[in-house]
Amino acid sequence: MKTTDLFNLKGKVAIVTGGANGIGKATALMLAKHGANIAIGDFNLEDAKKAVKEIEALGVKAIAVSCNVLKDEELVNLVETTVKELGGIHILINNAGGGGGGRENPSKISVDDIKRDYELNVFSGWRLCQLAVPHMKKDGYGSIVFTTSMSSINKSPNMSGYAGSKAAVNHTVANLAHDFGPEVRINAVGPGATRTAALESVLTPEIEKTMLKHTPIKRLGYTDDIAGAMLYFAAPISEWVSGQTIFVNGGGEQVLE
Ligand SMILES: NC(=O)c1ccc[n+]([C@@H]2O[C@H](COP(=O)([O-])OP(=O)(O)OC[C@H]3O[C@@H](n4cnc5c(N)ncnc54)[C@H](O)[C@@H]3O)[C@@H](O)[C@H]2O)c1
Repeated sequence: MKTTDLFNLKGKVAIVTGGANGIGKATALMLAKHGANIAIGDFNLEDAKKAVKEIEALGVKAIAVSCNVLKDEELVNLVETTVKELGGIHILINNAGGGGGGRENPSKISVDDIKRDYELNVFSGWRLCQLAVPHMKKDGYGSIVFTTSMSSINKSPNMSGYAGSKAAVNHTVANLAHDFGPEVRINAVGPGATRTAALESVLTPEIEKTMLKHTPIKRLGYTDDIAGAMLYFAAPISEWVSGQTIFVNGGGEQVLE
């Protein structure tokens, strides 16, 4: 392969869930800059449409599909619409997720709250894999990337649902690599504290200073830091890499002591 082709995604189609904002949007733009056509699946259709305009300005095709990843019929629709409008699926970024935030005090939450973490972070992505992989196999190129988290390896109070579900992502990916190869690869990217709107809204100089105590690269993450790792897994440069989790975290961890 020519070195110029290692990051070439021209003609490939990528689905990015939660692609209207934050890490998902940065990833969609990063893949588009390398030639991919993009389907944004997000339940915030207004923001998804704005992201589509930015992506189209890069000279590729893009569509916004209203999709709550917790609803099976909307996952089915996301895959069917992408194939119909963009002609196939080669890359799937299972990024929509959430939970945690230090709010999971076992004496205050129900098992349904924990179930929701798993539905959002694990089951929705697993189901999208099931729906997308046949299209990838048909075209002979497939790369799936989950957004996991540093929480998947950190141990913290009031985080058991989110952290446990993200840990499940890492091991699910490692196992699915055996089910989906050789045509389809599957990996995960685990962000450290990354400057998205949600983080900016709670960040103070004191919080930032504490977070950087155990971070060798002395800054918090930008969404493009995470998108760069997504690009690596999505592109041909990583064609012999599957089942792996990479942490993009400034070389350390950002915890509140
Ligand atoms: N930001 C961080 O510091 C950080 C750290 C570790 C892991 N993560 C993970 O990164 C991923 C993206 O987080 P972010 O920080 O970019 O969030 P964000 O809030 O900036 O953006 C999330 C996007 O996902 C969409 N979304 C949320 N729930 C959805 C649902 N059920 N169906 C469809 N779309 C939905 C939102 O509308 C939004 O556009 C998540 O999986 C999160 O757990 C983030």
